[in-house]
Amino acid sequence: MSGRPSLRARPGAPHARILGVGGYRPARVVPNAEILTAIDSTDEWIRERSGITARRRAAADESVVDMCVAAAEKALAQAGTTADEIGCVVVATVTHLLQTPSAAALVAHRIGATGAAAFDISAACAGFCHGLALASDMVRGGSARQVLVVGCEKLSDMIDPTDRGTAFLFGDGAGAAVVGPADTPGIGPVVWGADGSQADAITQDAPWSALRDGGTDHFPTLSMNGQQVFRWAVFAMAPVCERALDAAGVGIDELDAFIPHQANLRIVEAMAKKLGLPGDVPIARDVVDTGNTSAASIPLAMERMLAEGQAPHGGTALLIGFGAGLSYAAQVVTLP
Ligand code: UT7
Repeated sequence: MSGRPSLRARPGAPHARILGVGGYRPARVVPNAEILTAIDSTDEWIRERSGITARRRAAADESVVDMCVAAAEKALAQAGTTADEIGCVVVATVTHLLQTPSAAALVAHRIGATGAAAFDISAACAGFCHGLALASDMVRGGSARQVLVVGCEKLSDMIDPTDRGTAFLFGDGAGAAVVGPADTPGIGPVVWGADGSQADAITQDAPWSALRDGGTDHFPTLSMNGQQVFRWAVFAMAPVCERALDAAGVGIDELDAFIPHQANLRIVEAMAKKLGLPGDVPIARDVVDTGNTSAASIPLAMERMLAEGQAPHGGTALLIGFGAGLSYAAQVVTLP
């Protein structure tokens, strides 16, 4: 008997940071005018209630995996890395319409990340921030040296074009980030949680099995109690932002950007006001012409703020994702 073997641990990196970000916006722009008749609405109502003027819609033959690949390739290029360096691919999505295999496994294969682990996570609009938290822990824990996190949705597949509460709100797109080792902390502690007692607030209106069992007369679509989600987002999410700032040891006046989930411009602005965000901190407003792209909205907004010079490379940004579950995740990051 040689006794119980002692297990070897794999050392991780001292810290993790975002090395690069990339976004993919489908070519088709759908202005408010195109959807008004189906929901008996007006351009003024949509702008006033949500700030949205247009959203992007993927082509019929363009899949979640296609959009993930396009965003991932840009993020890899900005990070100055290659797919063979990626040890894990995480895709946050609720609109990959295959129960199995995961979108991540297909994405990893398509980009050539052949040695990578790959899996999907379901945390709706909070999915990207969940993925970022996992990636940071993987890099620091030694399970992967670099991690590709993609948030992607083809919500046009899951919305009822005649539903007044959702048809104008949601769009399609993908955003990706490469997370890798760093000498100093670049991804602050995550503050996250879920409240399943409010699960009905945003939900698929029928399970897939209802299609088989005759329990629904239509392909399941998203249904949302907009007012309930709005109230929760404005009142419960500002304190989550404050806890993420505290956990990272960053003052609100030290931020170079506020990049919340692009749910609705009114929510974004109400949250900034409740937080007491100084007026000179740039706020992501990508929702205006991109719509609410759920898991894709934060990396898409981040990429745009960097590309348009609204936020500095290397600057400090507060991120918060929130949505179905109801689930949320927030962290302070150093921008790539
Ligand atoms: O990303 C995941 C998380 N999701 C969100 O964060 C979404 C949160 N919720 C929202 O963004 C907002 O609730 C919406 C933008 C979806 C809706 O705005 P609202 O100010 O909450 O509108 P409402 O549902 O309270 O409706 C107000 C009025 C109603 O009429 P009355 O009863 O005041 O006469 C509705 O019938 O607006 C009417 N209405 C519409 N009118 C024109 C509702 N939908 C529409 C519409 N067009 N599409």
